[in-house]
Amino acid sequence: MIPGVSRLMTKRLALVGAAILTAGILFGYDQGVISGALRGIEADFDLKTTMIEVVTSFVTLGALVGALVAGAMADRFGRRPAVLFAGVLFIAGALIEAFAPGSAVLVVGRLTVGFAVGVASVAAPLYAAEMAPTRLRGTFVSTYQFGITFGIFVAYLVDEWLQSGSAWRLMLGLSAVAGVLLIVLLLPLRDTPRWYLRAGRPAEAEAELARIHPDDSEARFRELEESLADEPSDVAWREVFARRWRAPLVIGIGLAVFQQITGINAIIYYADKIFAAAGFSSPADQTAATTWAIGAVNVLATLIAITFVDRLGRKPLLVAGLLGMAVSLTVVGVAFLSIDDSVTAGASTATASGRPSDAGIIMLVALVVYIASFAFSMGPIVWTMINEIYPRSVRGRAVSVATAANWFSAWIVSQFFLSVVDAVGESVTFWIFAALSVVCLVWIVAKVPETRSRTLEEIEAMWGEDAPPDGATGATGA
Ligand code: BGC
Repeated sequence: MIPGVSRLMTKRLALVGAAILTAGILFGYDQGVISGALRGIEADFDLKTTMIEVVTSFVTLGALVGALVAGAMADRFGRRPAVLFAGVLFIAGALIEAFAPGSAVLVVGRLTVGFAVGVASVAAPLYAAEMAPTRLRGTFVSTYQFGITFGIFVAYLVDEWLQSGSAWRLMLGLSAVAGVLLIVLLLPLRDTPRWYLRAGRPAEAEAELARIHPDDSEARFRELEESLADEPSDVAWREVFARRWRAPLVIGIGLAVFQQITGINAIIYYADKIFAAAGFSSPADQTAATTWAIGAVNVLATLIAITFVDRLGRKPLLVAGLLGMAVSLTVVGVAFLSIDDSVTAGASTATASGRPSDAGIIMLVALVVYIASFAFSMGPIVWTMINEIYPRSVRGRAVSVATAANWFSAWIVSQFFLSVVDAVGESVTFWIFAALSVVCLVWIVAKVPETRSRTLEEIEAMWGEDAPPDGATGATGA
């Protein structure tokens, strides 16, 4: 049981947490599984390079579109229906992929799954941020990131286990199971009191508040009512870009873009190739290094964020994480100087005995430090902050914009990483990621406020005040 929280509320929050976790797992699994599935797909459908790229990258493009429409959907129909819709699409997309008779149908399946991932990536953390008691909000939204990392890890494991030819259908189809689970978990839940009230359904807002905050539901209801009193219920897209919300808009988009351009998915997607270049000569060794050094470390280090994000605050974790990322990326670049073979060629620099060279070992350690640093900082905290910094009137749509910016940047990095490596070499590529981590660090210290312990209403009020960027707060929420 969560201390200071009633048994019923603990149960309810556990259910919301499980749903958010499942949404994250779907995100991570669908992102991670394709690398292992591609081999079988290529063989079965005799795909050429362009089609391989389409099959790989259309999930990201689908997600970009899904993210863009999800905010308006979540504002209009509710946070929970939007996640439910994503669950249904996940199942449909996974089945289309699994039974695709040819590459065209497969691409339709990939787009459907991508769209679902995009909708879920907006609606699920939004639902979590609005449902969570203030003092647990960071932990709650970080659960979503935990799901993502767990999903990627499971995808790596499934890829390893199901390496034979047509197993790709099973690999892709498996996410339908998580889609069903997501729907089952959401069925007994309700929407957030904030959303009900905004939608002009006060009785349901009251009923849900009485369930989750039995001791002071009336006071909370009044508080919510006051904060919504002068707010139009349906705002135009234009309001998202209004001058008074410029600061949170820029911060959300900035965090979303920096999360990607500091290299995470270059490493998540191309880890096998990087390990090959670092001297892990057999494919089995490369896969094992990727699964454990990247996949498992990513999951475990996310637990650090879940534990500390609401105790230490967002900024200390971001600063520590970015420092770790910048240093480790620099080391990866240096290690590559003494490795001649190229990531793009996927060649190996194993020693005569077949073991990785010293530079290879140094690189492995640096990559572990990088993944761990990302996992306790930029991974979970970016999602947490994107979902807490916007005013209610535009929250759904603004989260959509920031999330779409994240998907767009993810697509750019995954699409061009190998070409950049070809053009300037591995070392310079990783130093660019390191430099961008430093720029992000400086920007966060200067511009991003601490949001720990503030209620969503207090955060909103903060943009109006001339608050110091690092505004300390005495306020504690539920
Ligand atoms: C990012 C993903 C990334 C994952 C890695 C997430 O926060 O949005 O793009 O693949 O972290 O764990």
